[in-house]
Amino acid sequence: MKAYIKTFGCQMNENDSERIMYLLEEEGYERTYDIAASDLIVLNTCTVREKAKNRLYGHIGNLKRLKSKNKDILICIGGCTAQSMKEKIIEDFPFVDIVFGTHNIPEFPELIKKSILTNRSICSIKDNGFDPDLFKVKREYNFKAFVPITIGCNNYCSYCIVPFVRGREKSVEVKKIIRNIEGLVSRGVIEVTLLGQNVNSYGKDLNEGCTFSELLEKVSDIKRLKRIRFITSHPKDFSRSIIDIIKNRDNLVKHIHLPLQAGSNKVLKEMNRNYTREDYLNIIENIREEIPDCSITTDIIVGFPGEERYDFLETLDMVRKVRFNRAFTFIYSPREGTKASKIKDHILLEEKKKWFKELLETQNRISDEENKKFIGKKFKVLVEGKSVKDGNLLEGRMENNTIVNFKGNTGLIGKIVSVIITRAKTFYLMGDLARKNYV
Ligand code: 5AD
Ligand code: SF4
Repeated sequence: MKAYIKTFGCQMNENDSERIMYLLEEEGYERTYDIAASDLIVLNTCTVREKAKNRLYGHIGNLKRLKSKNKDILICIGGCTAQSMKEKIIEDFPFVDIVFGTHNIPEFPELIKKSILTNRSICSIKDNGFDPDLFKVKREYNFKAFVPITIGCNNYCSYCIVPFVRGREKSVEVKKIIRNIEGLVSRGVIEVTLLGQNVNSYGKDLNEGCTFSELLEKVSDIKRLKRIRFITSHPKDFSRSIIDIIKNRDNLVKHIHLPLQAGSNKVLKEMNRNYTREDYLNIIENIREEIPDCSITTDIIVGFPGEERYDFLETLDMVRKVRFNRAFTFIYSPREGTKASKIKDHILLEEKKKWFKELLETQNRISDEENKKFIGKKFKVLVEGKSVKDGNLLEGRMENNTIVNFKGNTGLIGKIVSVIITRAKTFYLMGDLARKNYV
């Protein structure tokens, strides 16, 4: 039996797909990348923005066609759109067999059996939950791994659906995290990415007295672990001690993803972000002072309800001041049930699109200029596979998360090598393997 799984959205969803795949393999399914040859299809969906949600609809026609050709194929919809739309998915698309929420992954094998046995569509959505088997995954890569350290979110940024679909923030116990990473390292993993909606608030719900920076220290002490990443940081909880650890520990990458969201204090307040532009700039100044070569990336929303042109210009001003290596930019998308969706919004979408374009042009120019600074320099690169753009090249990531393409033997995949940067594009770099290699 073959299972096809497609993931939309964030790394948390990627990790969930790896958990789903683990369970499917336990049931005897083998993974396929050919949807037409599969017996079971899972779409692991995202609902953070309307566009992300609509991607489900973009695929549903194809699923219907496959199902009409072979009624035995099981069509399963999981993830955040499933969690928020519930039965509505089956009402709209009766050929869907299983709808399961983000808290229902452990019971997925049972749902499959039930659906086959009863030959009926099933929807199973729990409101909240914490899977003790969070770390049982079928990993996509054998040299790098995601490690969830918190699930859910307590911040209720006024535009965001995540706290409603992923539930309250829950931290994983320190010893479980450490034991899991030690196990991964013993099986050849050299890079881990610690995952959480707001990693900086790690541990606040536990009675272990371990803060995020203390957790980072413990993870960093694990021998043979070469690279530690973490996402996502929240400026309101970002502490000075994190900067110190990154500065002092070699295996913590010099990259911080710190979503700004908006540059105007009025908008930040309306977003319920709990920091000001001055606070944000202060953090950036501290990072730059202590770790001058740290790359900083961000998320920005354009056109939040009530945002005026002069507010947007403050965002643009922040982008120019901070000079992010990269920014993930989004036009505000109202999500039902959130506080922001009730705020009156008088700026036309056309106008927002113009602002968005301005932001993109400014940021792309900065990314370009920052990337050019890497030319001629040597960096450690973790080789991840063949290049997506050119199958004759390899692709890897520098510590700062920038993608580098270069010529090399596929035997290098999974290793850290030295690469000298030769050319810079807006979103990636080209390079040559350094003669003296292996780091
Ligand atoms: N509209 C637009 N962008 C959003 N994001 C989250 N919710 C929304 C929304 N309703 C963006 C934020 C967040 C990223 C993952 O998605 O920038 O950091
Ligand atoms: Fe959403 Fe804010 Fe939580 Fe991030 S911190 S998941 S933007 S509510």
